[in-house]
Amino acid sequence: MTRKIIFISNRLPITVTKGASGFEYHESIGGLATGLKSYHQQAGSIWIGWLGLADDELTPKEKNLIQKRLKNQHKCLPVFLSKQAINDYYYGFCNNTIWPLFHYFTDKTETQVSTWKAYQDVNQKFFEVLETVIGKNDTIWIHDYQLMLLPRLIKDKYPQAQVGYFLHIPFPSFEIFRLLVWREEILLGILGADLIGFHTYDYARHFLSSVRRLLGFDHNFNTINHEGRSILVDAFPMGIDYDFFVKNHAVQVEEEMAAIAEQTASKIVLSVDRLDYTKGIPQRITAFSRFLEKYPEYHKKIRFYLIVAPSREEADSYSELLKEIEKLISRINGKYGTLNWMPIWFFFRSFSQQDLIYFYRHADVMLVTPLRDGMNLVAKEYVASRTDCQGVLVISETAGAASELSEALVVNVNNFDAIADSIKVALEMPEDEKRARNKLMHKRLQRYNVKFWADEFLMTLKTSVADWRQNMATKDLEKSSYVIEQAYQHSSNRILFLDYDGTLVGFKSIPEQAKPDQELIGLLSDLADDPQNMIVIVSGRDKYILEEWFGDLNVHILASHGLWLRHSHETEWIMTTLLENDWKDTVRPILSLYTDRTPGSFIEEKDYSIAWHYRKCEPDMVAYKLSEIREHLMSLISSTTLGLQEGNKVLEVKDARVNKGYVSSLFIQQNDFDFILGAGDDYTDEDLFLSLPPGSFSIKIGIENTNAKYQLKSWQSMRSLLRKLVRISNTNKQQ
Ligand code: UDP
Ligand code: G6P
Repeated sequence: MTRKIIFISNRLPITVTKGASGFEYHESIGGLATGLKSYHQQAGSIWIGWLGLADDELTPKEKNLIQKRLKNQHKCLPVFLSKQAINDYYYGFCNNTIWPLFHYFTDKTETQVSTWKAYQDVNQKFFEVLETVIGKNDTIWIHDYQLMLLPRLIKDKYPQAQVGYFLHIPFPSFEIFRLLVWREEILLGILGADLIGFHTYDYARHFLSSVRRLLGFDHNFNTINHEGRSILVDAFPMGIDYDFFVKNHAVQVEEEMAAIAEQTASKIVLSVDRLDYTKGIPQRITAFSRFLEKYPEYHKKIRFYLIVAPSREEADSYSELLKEIEKLISRINGKYGTLNWMPIWFFFRSFSQQDLIYFYRHADVMLVTPLRDGMNLVAKEYVASRTDCQGVLVISETAGAASELSEALVVNVNNFDAIADSIKVALEMPEDEKRARNKLMHKRLQRYNVKFWADEFLMTLKTSVADWRQNMATKDLEKSSYVIEQAYQHSSNRILFLDYDGTLVGFKSIPEQAKPDQELIGLLSDLADDPQNMIVIVSGRDKYILEEWFGDLNVHILASHGLWLRHSHETEWIMTTLLENDWKDTVRPILSLYTDRTPGSFIEEKDYSIAWHYRKCEPDMVAYKLSEIREHLMSLISSTTLGLQEGNKVLEVKDARVNKGYVSSLFIQQNDFDFILGAGDDYTDEDLFLSLPPGSFSIKIGIENTNAKYQLKSWQSMRSLLRKLVRISNTNKQQ
């Protein structure tokens, strides 16, 4: 079975423009395209994306021509977008809503229902183009913020496909992300992927926190279990094509650049960005001006080459930014310039990467000072290009790359004095120190290059999907429930232990909503009325509520994890283990203390246990508090028969002798059952699974690791199994 690799991003690595003499094909700029293109060239991949032109400007014949050339020469499959779609989806939702918000520019973030609608439509459109080439086992790697709904669209229709998603920009903290109106839809869209990658651990952490707080899905070791799948979230810092930047390119430099080379007497400061307000260009110019003001000895001895590549030209915020930059430059050049010296040389155009290498090699100081940047590949390209290790990188801590380039001079982008001082330090840094710092960075860039990045991501995608699928395959009951049905059919003395929350109904954090529905009552009643069955509801809930819900059925009820037993059709509750309550006076004050300090938590005092509930608390804070509470309580109870029982967002102190396993074994000993089934979703059900004799059917609801012999993905699957068993009972009755 061959698997194709399909990359999908909004922008293709090739951008097509319409010139006077026909179509022109340029290499796209921007980190995603420049970074991934070298990998694409040597991998047997297909790349789907937008070509940069509006559909309306093309005749069918022209489209055909472009399609052919992109396919044959670049292994690319274009998505054609209309002017309207470009306006609403690309400029609108992508670059006026998501881009500013994810870079913490809340004041620039627009909220418009029409652009959100266009975003949904265009994601659907990308999906339709993908469908023309997708095979059901293919590996699909989706890139960036323009396509956050695509993973779900793919997974819903092609569950077998391996779907990876990588975000090339920052994922903001929860406090920022929560401002997005369609935040749940976006998170659910991304969660269609099997592996979700970010440039840094901070971004991954922010994403996990938003998923937990907005959707209520917990994570464990960076893994979210959702809809019967394990989704891994991790950091994969993107690298560059190191060898390309290290190689000596015989570049045919343009005349204007050759002239620059003659001026070697000057020290050269360089910066290279797309025109973008996230890049902190005006701030950088101001910091350079501060340098000129503070260190006049450098006048006439320094040049700042400011390369700004045009980007998103039709967006208002970008054209305003250009005006601001031009104004600042002319003010500084006007103030400090002389007849034969101009401090800032401004290039508002894009260069090929080969030409950029030329600039990189001649720059004594490289200023990479974005206000916020997912990674920033320019910083890495500069270090790699200076093979003599004699350049100095000044980088702001808000660039994702800063965490990997700590030997650079790291600055706070808002501290203009510090940037000015860093320029001076960089210019005067001894050669040995420059070499020592750069060598370390070179080593890292060489090892963690773009190939390493892509290979690691794709390998992790492959193994993580294979791992959980294999794990599930051995225990998966979804398609093989006939094993249980047959055993049920051929037995005459059966016992079924059924946990309630998460097993027979969905887990509801609001107890009032957890009441059993009519269908469930019907199923339990039918099962219980089969004279060959004994049904035991085993729950952590208290006896009063269980009696209210199931008291009229012919079922046995084990409440409080097995402490209380009520036989069917009896009204009395029996205590299964004789317990004392003196310990509560010691434990209660401690839990009260933590309740006071943890907003949203509350104590539930049961007959013979005390439970500390934290489902309404802020999850990150509670995760931290929990370890403290556990430690505190364990130090108190370690020499007693008490234990800590971890449930779904609840920690319970109770006598460890009482558990679902102990009590169910009492039932089993009393009778000679020929069919034993135990089903549960929770940590507390593991005791039950372990206590069942060989040959029993233990079923874990959920895909987490378990001691159960079988697994079902959800409570709905369990329902469907119960329906089948009821059908068998009914058929047997009629015979
Ligand atoms: N780039 C280019 N020509 C230019 C300016 C930039 O080829 O005139 C490339 C640059 O080499 C880098 C990419 O565009 O690979 C910019 O990526 P970065 O991660 O620094 O920022 P982004 O544009 O993705 O925000
Ligand atoms: C950043 C984004 C990319 C985008 C690039 C250029 O690198 O992460 O997704 O392609 O900027 O922006 P553009 O809007 O021209 O594609």
